[in-house]
Amino acid sequence: MNIPLIRPDLPTLEDVRAPFEEILANGKITNFGKYVKQFESETAAYLGGETVAVSSGTVGLLFALSSVGFAPGEKVILPSFTFTATAQAVLYAGGLPVFAEVGDDLTLSPQDLEHLLDQHPETAAVIGVHMYGLPARTAEIEGIVGAASRNRRRPISLFFDAAQAFGSSVDGRRVGTFGDAEVFSLSVSKVLVSVEGGLVSTRRPELAERIRLMRNYGIRANYDAHYSGLNGKMSEFHAIIGLHNLRRLDHILATRQERAHRYAHQIRRNTSLRVLVWPSGVVHTVKDFTVLVPGPNADRRNEIIQFLAERGIESRAYFFPPVHEQKYFCKYADRPLPKTEAFSRRVITLPFYTSMSDQEMDYVVEQLSEAERRFGMRISAKGGAGHLGSVLNCGNQSKPGRDEA
Ligand SMILES: Cc1ncc(COP(=O)(O)O)c(C=O)c1O
Repeated sequence: MNIPLIRPDLPTLEDVRAPFEEILANGKITNFGKYVKQFESETAAYLGGETVAVSSGTVGLLFALSSVGFAPGEKVILPSFTFTATAQAVLYAGGLPVFAEVGDDLTLSPQDLEHLLDQHPETAAVIGVHMYGLPARTAEIEGIVGAASRNRRRPISLFFDAAQAFGSSVDGRRVGTFGDAEVFSLSVSKVLVSVEGGLVSTRRPELAERIRLMRNYGIRANYDAHYSGLNGKMSEFHAIIGLHNLRRLDHILATRQERAHRYAHQIRRNTSLRVLVWPSGVVHTVKDFTVLVPGPNADRRNEIIQFLAERGIESRAYFFPPVHEQKYFCKYADRPLPKTEAFSRRVITLPFYTSMSDQEMDYVVEQLSEAERRFGMRISAKGGAGHLGSVLNCGNQSKPGRDEA
């Protein structure tokens, strides 16, 4: 069997034939036409704020950060356990990255954030990342950043990199409504796909207005730049695909959650791998299905990935190395991040997609279990003790935490 890491959710040709024919015939294929406007108004209605469609998540992050502006030497706190694009955007926007630890849920640690805000009074912004679609600890982070802003008598901006989390929510509040702005990616591996693309969501109209200028070379009309800017436009083709997927997003999300619950159950029953926490009250896109190799077996991680590859199963160490250990970024790291480093050596992102069949899932789990036998990793046959205590909550347990058991 050949099982890819992802299979994107795409429309059929018939699904998009009519709008594609329309724009090819009338030539209105870009420059904020009817479909980009429609995509913005439907995503804004879904999220409950203003949205600005852009060419990628990275460009969206760059614009969101640049819309508040940084003076030389101003710092931006972000978790090191993220895709490198989060940190790249900070540098391009003129900020200095300060790398924070994550908690056991692999999102920004509120305790470390508090510590870093004390250590770095010149912090101008904070970015939380909704890892794999699991919302960061938004309420705690908003509280800490709000208190630090009041103490300093100046605003510290708060952004969320929501690249992986379109459709996630916490206690009924949608991701996209937190902080000063949140930024989604709509690239091929995401749950809401427009092929390539990004979306900035904000409830601050002045930021939305600036970002609209920024994505259009900084110009308002004619050729008169009012602001810094680039070409960050979304084309009509991309918007048509995004719109199609947006209209079936609830179905995609429900299917992914059902599929993820089944996968988690099988993995917990048949392997010693730990499934990541999923607290109650959270809607999770499960953009990636990531498991942790038990700590004592971390050195087997790459062999397991290789073992799976030899049996036609694509998996990744996502995210390794963490950003503060990457060649380009280690010069900004001024301390070790033990938790981040340990987790990034234990993660395996397994194949997962909306259309994944029971048979495909069972094959992956069978091969994981086989790998464990091969490498002498099994600690006991069933969950409960030792490393087997998975903490995934499928939404119906009483009051789960996010921390490792
Ligand atoms: C956490 C995170 N941030 C940013 C990005 C960048 O998004 P894009 O590829 O649309 O530029 C990604 C994309 O994978 C991501 O996972």
